[in-house]
Amino acid sequence: MPAWLRRLFTHSHVHHLSVQDGYARWAKQYDDDAHNPAVNLEEQAIVRCLPALDGRRVLDAGCGTGRQSIYALNQGARLVVGIDLSEPMLNQARRKGRMKLLRADLCVLPFSDASFDVVICSFTLDYVRDFSLAIAELSRVTVPGGTVVVSDLHPFGSFVGWNRAFRHHDGTRMQVYLIDHTPHLYAEYTRACRQSGLVIEEVVEPRVDEAARPDYEAQGSLRAYEQHQGLPIVLIMRLRKIRTNAS
Ligand SMILES: C[S@@+](CC[C@H](N)C(=O)[O-])C[C@H]1O[C@@H](n2cnc3c(N)ncnc32)[C@H](O)[C@@H]1O
Repeated sequence: MPAWLRRLFTHSHVHHLSVQDGYARWAKQYDDDAHNPAVNLEEQAIVRCLPALDGRRVLDAGCGTGRQSIYALNQGARLVVGIDLSEPMLNQARRKGRMKLLRADLCVLPFSDASFDVVICSFTLDYVRDFSLAIAELSRVTVPGGTVVVSDLHPFGSFVGWNRAFRHHDGTRMQVYLIDHTPHLYAEYTRACRQSGLVIEEVVEPRVDEAARPDYEAQGSLRAYEQHQGLPIVLIMRLRKIRTNAS
């Protein structure tokens, strides 16, 4: 763990939370925290992986407060459905747009096979209890020939101490909340995709560079910027659902 992170933890109360408890607590302040360097880099890079969404049926799996759902609506998607495990996160999303939102686990999606043309899953796969099952479900609900775009914090990050954490000052002391997660390596992606009828078409790994400096500065974390410079901070993949003779 880098020294700056160790110092932060030493002067704070640190709590370890499950995904459900973590997002129940984070939901209200999530959007204020969401414009962090990783999310900003992902937003710039993911457009290189997404197909045209105009007229498409789009699933936003692990939609949280609806960031990608709103993007899909703005791009002219015909139908946008967001699912998430966390009702408090969905409640934040409900204030925002015309997407359909429902509580569901992405490992057990409540949709028929081939219901969507495009499936987006942003910053969520590291939280699921069964990674292969999650990829299989994303594939199942995608139409043959359709696209699945997944993004998450880059697994390299866990080696330099990145966490899934948020901070909240309770008036007396800074509280740090760490949410349970499991980073996944390329080998796991390739295996899960092969088993689920998905082909990896594109991999994008945006690195932290000068352009990200103002985002770090805004968070008061220039020391983290120096640590992260040059590292790929996000892993994004475009996956194609294979067409079979029957489809
Ligand atoms: C970091 S947020 C990302 C939200 C949104 N995709 C974005 O990029 O802004 C992760 C979200 O994944 C949700 N999540 C975690 N595990 C899930 C699961 N098994 N099924 C559905 N949603 C899940 C959490 O509740 C949380 O809202």
